[in-house]
Amino acid sequence: MSEKVRIGIIGGGLMGREVASALGRWFVLEDFPVQAELVAVCDLADRQREWFRQVPGVRLLTADHRALLASPEVDVVYVAVPHHLHEALYLDVLRAGKDLLAEKPFGIDLRAARAIAAAARESGRFVRCSSEFPFLPGAQRAYRIAREGGLGRLLEIHSGFHHSSDLDPTKPVNWKRQVRTCGEIGVMGDLGMHTIHVPFRLGWKPERVYAQLQKIYHERPDGKGGLAPCDTWDNALLHTDLKIEGGTVPLRFEMKRLAPGETNTWFIEILGTDGGVRFSTKEPKTLWTFQRGKEQTWQRTDLGFHGPFPTVTGGIFEPGFPDCFLQMWAAYLAERAGKLGDRFGCVTPDEAVQSHELFAAALQSHREKRAIDVP
Ligand SMILES: NC(=O)c1ccc[n+]([C@@H]2O[C@H](COP(=O)([O-])OP(=O)(O)OC[C@H]3O[C@@H](n4cnc5c(N)ncnc54)[C@H](O)[C@@H]3O)[C@@H](O)[C@H]2O)c1
Repeated sequence: MSEKVRIGIIGGGLMGREVASALGRWFVLEDFPVQAELVAVCDLADRQREWFRQVPGVRLLTADHRALLASPEVDVVYVAVPHHLHEALYLDVLRAGKDLLAEKPFGIDLRAARAIAAAARESGRFVRCSSEFPFLPGAQRAYRIAREGGLGRLLEIHSGFHHSSDLDPTKPVNWKRQVRTCGEIGVMGDLGMHTIHVPFRLGWKPERVYAQLQKIYHERPDGKGGLAPCDTWDNALLHTDLKIEGGTVPLRFEMKRLAPGETNTWFIEILGTDGGVRFSTKEPKTLWTFQRGKEQTWQRTDLGFHGPFPTVTGGIFEPGFPDCFLQMWAAYLAERAGKLGDRFGCVTPDEAVQSHELFAAALQSHREKRAIDVP
């Protein structure tokens, strides 16, 4: 008999609904050691809560997260709320004795991230942070190729995540566009965790950063006929130095809300003297690999549907966002059950804190117009 885990969600917005979607088709995972069921949802807004009435298995709908945390029927809590609420709600989850899958950026700033990580350690609960794109087959292959070596001397690494809907100046403001609710790190808090996961897991932690941050639109429609301030960073380029085998390798992180034509493009490129690899969600089933032989070749491979956790889906089919999100949840629950093996795991609290250390150094770099050492 596989273990049964009962899950509660705090924050039933965009991401809360994605979790309902992933857990709702848990049976597609083959021979998976854990059964997962969504049983409870908390959201302040009636409209958001009501949506979950259609989801089988949900028995508790509440506007008070303390009611959800008091329920003995909930084992694991996923929290997807605006960033200024992360610290208080994550700490409440841990105090209630529940395990936590946190959303990025794991606290609104470095101080909050450190406080959450310390509380996680003290509580002994199983805590990880969300970042799903590395679970796509192309990202997994890029990770494996880099881990196995064989690329020769590393030349450079690019890891990025691009959005484009903010190019439209008539897009209304929301909590993600204001420092008070999103954080001073702005787009780095929004998109940064997605870009650091694979490099950090490969042990590639930058020792210096030079950051270029941009604010493009300073106001946006407030949805009530007026304008509201829009004071977060929109685009961030983090040029970093990585020490590898005595040499310095440039690693560039790109996080953009205004990247022409890119609706939701996650990518990684790792280039060496003997080999290279490139994957982008722009071409979701394609892996590009470079080989230097007598001639130099970039080779294109159609990957099919092979995530870390086997599913019933046909091996030639194309993967997408809901698939990597399901795979991330599988990784979280497999690791929690001690059954991850050598598979790729979710972002750890330490990695989340290290991402905040990088982003805090990037803010300082941009302010002082110089490269800053990362702790
Ligand atoms: N992993 C990803 O790909 C990804 C994508 C988007 C957002 N996110 C992250 O997910 C989190 C939420 O983002 P979102 O896009 O789902 O936001 P959202 O605005 O769509 O949803 C947030 C929800 O939280 C609810 N809420 C606010 N305060 C609450 C409280 N005290 N108790 C209960 N509910 C409360 C709101 O009513 C809203 O429904 C953020 O941390 C964000 O960075 C992750």
